[in-house]
Amino acid sequence: MKITIIGSGNVGASCASFLAQKNIVNKIILLDIKENISEGKSLDISQMLSLMESRTELVGVTNDYSKSKNSEIIVITSGITRKPGMSRDDLVNINANIIREVTEKSIFFSPKAKFIIVSNPLDVMAYVSYITASIDSSRVIGMAGVLDTSRYRYFLSKKLKLSCYDIQSLLLGGHGDTMVPLYRYTSVSGIPIKEFLSEEDNNLIIEKTKKGGEEIVNLLGTSAWIAPGASIVKMIESIIKNENRIFPCSALLKGEYGIEDIYLGVPVILGKSGIEKIIELKLNNEEMNLLKKSAFHVKNMIKKVKDL
Ligand code: NAI
Ligand code: 2OP
Repeated sequence: MKITIIGSGNVGASCASFLAQKNIVNKIILLDIKENISEGKSLDISQMLSLMESRTELVGVTNDYSKSKNSEIIVITSGITRKPGMSRDDLVNINANIIREVTEKSIFFSPKAKFIIVSNPLDVMAYVSYITASIDSSRVIGMAGVLDTSRYRYFLSKKLKLSCYDIQSLLLGGHGDTMVPLYRYTSVSGIPIKEFLSEEDNNLIIEKTKKGGEEIVNLLGTSAWIAPGASIVKMIESIIKNENRIFPCSALLKGEYGIEDIYLGVPVILGKSGIEKIIELKLNNEEMNLLKKSAFHVKNMIKKVKDL
């Protein structure tokens, strides 16, 4: 089982490190355009493996896609990040070109691969990769909801003084300020969240979650990478072990939720084929309006990329 990670920057290397520690794949290829970065990070991660009791082999390469041949999954983290004062959307032009290029090169060597897209603006980049790869949309999946729900679970656990393990939740919509909270679908060990927290207080936590990425950008001068890396690994694991876990992921909508031809965060079942199924929840009017607003925003961004 071979996984290739394109982009050996902060997120790519963090993903490789968490994945290697799990000892669930034979080989991880780290690939970057920048000379020696993949080679250096692969060595650093490899030198941890005896301590972590993992047999995963890491190979770092500079732009040599032939080494990624027949990968089961290609993770795309290449691109620029936002700096303080920038939104994810400000990255769109530069990253769209990078995503097109790396998708084309990767699909050539791994025509059966599933793709997990991470670069921002996430939902737009997932769409660009899907169009470029020209494969079934079940094989091109965007990572954002796993991270956003993990942030939400963390903030809720702090507020409630309860274990974050026990908090179950779903967030829909685009990765960013238009994400859609689902208060009705949040619970703690099966107990509805309304037993613990009013909708008003929950909304304050949602606002904090929406700004979760920005808070880190302001502190670090670049975006987060540790929780993002771990989030990607959760998705990889569900796919390669055919776990059929339900995660909020960015997926191509073909009429689900009344939305067509854009990538947007929705609950999906992740298994050996990638997206096994998109789950269509019965949203109330308020939730549906928020989702449509989020879809409108992503659609406009996609249109801008198409017009480039
Ligand atoms: P980074 O700057 O640390 O790493 C990006 C890497 O991509 C660099 O090493 C760079 O050399 C490489 N790269 C650029 N062009 C390339 C090309 N044509 N081919 C191969 N490699 C290329 O950035 P970081 O922090 O790893 O973030 C990467 C992307 O992921 C950003 O767009 C960021 O906004 C996004 N992100 C998305 C998250 C999500 O939840 N979806 C979470 C965190 C980051
Ligand atoms: C985040 O939410 C930058 O999208 C990235 O941290």
